[in-house]
Amino acid sequence: MRLDKYLADACIGSRSQVKQLIKKGLVRVNGNRASDPSMAVNDHDTVECNGSPVMYRDHFYFMLNKPEGLITATEDGTQKTVLDLFPDNIRRKLFPVGRLDKDTVGLLLITDDGAFCHELMAPSHHVDKRYLLHTDKPMDEEDVKAFGEGLVLSDGTAFKSALLEIDAEDLCKAVITISEGKYHQIKRMLLARGKEVIYLKRLSVGSLKLDESLKEGEYRELHEDELRNLHKK
Ligand code: URA
Repeated sequence: MRLDKYLADACIGSRSQVKQLIKKGLVRVNGNRASDPSMAVNDHDTVECNGSPVMYRDHFYFMLNKPEGLITATEDGTQKTVLDLFPDNIRRKLFPVGRLDKDTVGLLLITDDGAFCHELMAPSHHVDKRYLLHTDKPMDEEDVKAFGEGLVLSDGTAFKSALLEIDAEDLCKAVITISEGKYHQIKRMLLARGKEVIYLKRLSVGSLKLDESLKEGEYRELHEDELRNLHKK
């Protein structure tokens, strides 16, 4: 592959920006200063930019600790999206895996790998998602039972069995595990039991847990083992 494409794919900059970096002599291939943006490189070559190694990746996989107030979309004419947290040279390729409501916080996967997204989101895949939730009224064993049996709303919407674990110290707090991702699912489930969700945070998706060292609005790339384990499911 051409050196300028290699650098652009690694999100060092746009094609024209990386050409400038090469022109300025800031790019080295196998220790030698590169001058030709069209020179051929492959993933066995050592490429450095500004003295830092450039890792070639086929795809990007980020975990974001989503903050409140951003919508889960790639673009929106009026509202800020989760992709606004990413630098311009990377964000143009990326999209979120699934959806969290504007006021929901916590784990959101962001990638440019369509097949991976499809695999994780396929209803047949049954990936468990865990959320921490707070409600306006205390929850009880009847709620646990109703969710365990699978709830059917008055409009006929049926939700699969979900595990509700109420905090013994504070009955307005619980962790819920669901295996689907229907629109406003958790809020609608609780509402059907007469309770309003006032805080919702996604803790995990399948084997992937939110890295609690990430502050809201921060993201990091997935580690190799995290990605491997997600693919295994
Ligand atoms: N369920 C909801 O109600 N909202 C979310 O953001 C995710 C699950």
